[in-house]
Amino acid sequence: MKVIIDTMDKILTIQSNNEEHILSIYSKEAFEVLSSLWLKVGWNQKYTYTFTWLGRPIIQLPEDMIRAQEVIWRVQPDVIVETGVAHGGSLVYYASLCKVIGKGRVIGVDIEIRPHNRQAIEAHPLSSLITLVEGDSIAPETVRKVHSLVKPGEVVMVFLDSCHTKQHVLAEL
Ligand SMILES: C[S@@+](CC[C@H](N)C(=O)[O-])C[C@H]1O[C@@H](n2cnc3c(N)ncnc32)[C@H](O)[C@@H]1O
Repeated sequence: MKVIIDTMDKILTIQSNNEEHILSIYSKEAFEVLSSLWLKVGWNQKYTYTFTWLGRPIIQLPEDMIRAQEVIWRVQPDVIVETGVAHGGSLVYYASLCKVIGKGRVIGVDIEIRPHNRQAIEAHPLSSLITLVEGDSIAPETVRKVHSLVKPGEVVMVFLDSCHTKQHVLAEL
């Protein structure tokens, strides 16, 4: 696919399979094409690795964080479980939302929580809202451990951000 961005005439031309589509640069369709391109360029530039939340590196796109916040506010979960901790930024992000909402706590699962990350997460001002579980997110003992940290009847929200292969995510689900 070839995309030609013409900011002077305010049109986006898409050429593929010997077809040509001309879109207004301000249309919804053009926004989708440009967003998809922006995402790919950002991924290659490691843009998602450039953010921190309250001092911890977070590997997320700000757009996704805002959308996640909208869902968390709507659902008001008692517990947020996230598989994939890395540096702990997203755990701190969810914990900060719980703190502001006045409800909820966070459980983070990772196959390897590096000592310096564990130390920093445990030393964070929001650490009282965060529990770390080290283990493979699809291992029965990890699932049992997380299950034991949730009380019956609690509303649980789960974010899957560990290994993103289809097979692993299916197993996590
Ligand atoms: C994309 S990073 C998580 C980013 C983090 N949620 C954030 O927003 O900052 C993925 C993490 O998943 C962990 N991981 C990979 N395979 C896993 C598995 N099978 N079970 C649990 N964690 C896993 C890696 O160790 C890594 O820390």
